[in-house]
Amino acid sequence: MPLVPRHIQDLESYKPGRNINDVKEELGLDNIIKLASNENPLGPSPKAIEAVKSSLCDNFRYPDASAMLFRTKLADRFNIKLENVTVGAGSEGVMSAIMRTFLRIGDEIIAADNSFIGFRVLANASGIRTSWVPLENYRHDLLGMATYINDYTKIIYLANPDNPTGTYFTIDEFDVFMDQVPDRVLVILDEAYFEYAQHIDNYPDSMHYRYDNVITLRTFSKAHGLAGFRAGYGFAHEDLIENLMKVKLPFEPSWPAQVAAMEALDDEKYIQSTVRNCHTGMRVLETVFQEMEIEIIPSAANFITLIFNNGEEAIEFNERMLHNGIILRHLAGWGLPNCVRVTIGTEKENDYLIQSLSKILDPV
Ligand SMILES: Cc1ncc(COP(=O)(O)O)c(C=O)c1O
Repeated sequence: MPLVPRHIQDLESYKPGRNINDVKEELGLDNIIKLASNENPLGPSPKAIEAVKSSLCDNFRYPDASAMLFRTKLADRFNIKLENVTVGAGSEGVMSAIMRTFLRIGDEIIAADNSFIGFRVLANASGIRTSWVPLENYRHDLLGMATYINDYTKIIYLANPDNPTGTYFTIDEFDVFMDQVPDRVLVILDEAYFEYAQHIDNYPDSMHYRYDNVITLRTFSKAHGLAGFRAGYGFAHEDLIENLMKVKLPFEPSWPAQVAAMEALDDEKYIQSTVRNCHTGMRVLETVFQEMEIEIIPSAANFITLIFNNGEEAIEFNERMLHNGIILRHLAGWGLPNCVRVTIGTEKENDYLIQSLSKILDPV
């Protein structure tokens, strides 16, 4: 098809996790637990849902094109200026605007291999040459990534914690890395799982830095439980934000997404209970996996990745769990065919996962 550029023809489309209704129908099961997409198993804050309900009738109008109210709320919450905040339809919406704003033919990107697949799709769709730098022991090899910087490098993408490994890089590692990055290179620091990691002593919360060439991305899809609404945000120097605001789609996120996000941001108790649920579940599951001698990657996020001896074992495990009513994520699409990712669930879901593990594990 000559109309379609070669890099788009070659693009592999994103394959989302299995959907609950499809699995119910296919396997004839009544109850399905989905621990596949790192969503908040407790759902959204009830206050956010109430706010959306009462704003429904406002939606015959376009929202404010520059999302002033939402951006002001974020600026106040994080003690920065409005000029330093952008928003989008999920953090992927902001990522997409970044690619459209800053990249030109001839530029290059550096990113870690086996990292967030959404960025991989955006990079491949842009047609921009990208160096995919191998992970080192499932962690970003920041110094290795720095060696790929050349005169053409425009963007370096880092996810901290990373998905699907859950690993993070430390304050010291980030400082040493940033010493190697020229000011003309934009670093995207994707902190989608920030709420789960912020308690870790040596986690480099990017809000404590003032780099003019770093843009922080965060989302309402994970700890805030609003994945379906599509709301994310970015913090950066005002010059970057000013240009991003020119390129971003004018009315994203939708008004219901903005309303839900603003309310969720205020519901700090809800976030605390979400994070508590995750940390408790993580401790329980880590112990169980260790007792069952299933290798894991220690995680700073709301999921944990299991390592099997080979791809066949991972597929077998994933399939057996599916037939037991639990949707997990086999990571072949991320280039990790021997791994399966498990999102931390509610206490009840985690208990069911543990029961199912003992039932199916003999012998994978
Ligand atoms: C590292 C990372 N960044 C960004 C996202 C996308 O988030 P959003 O739903 O805000 O687009 C995800 C979602 O899985 C993720 O894991």
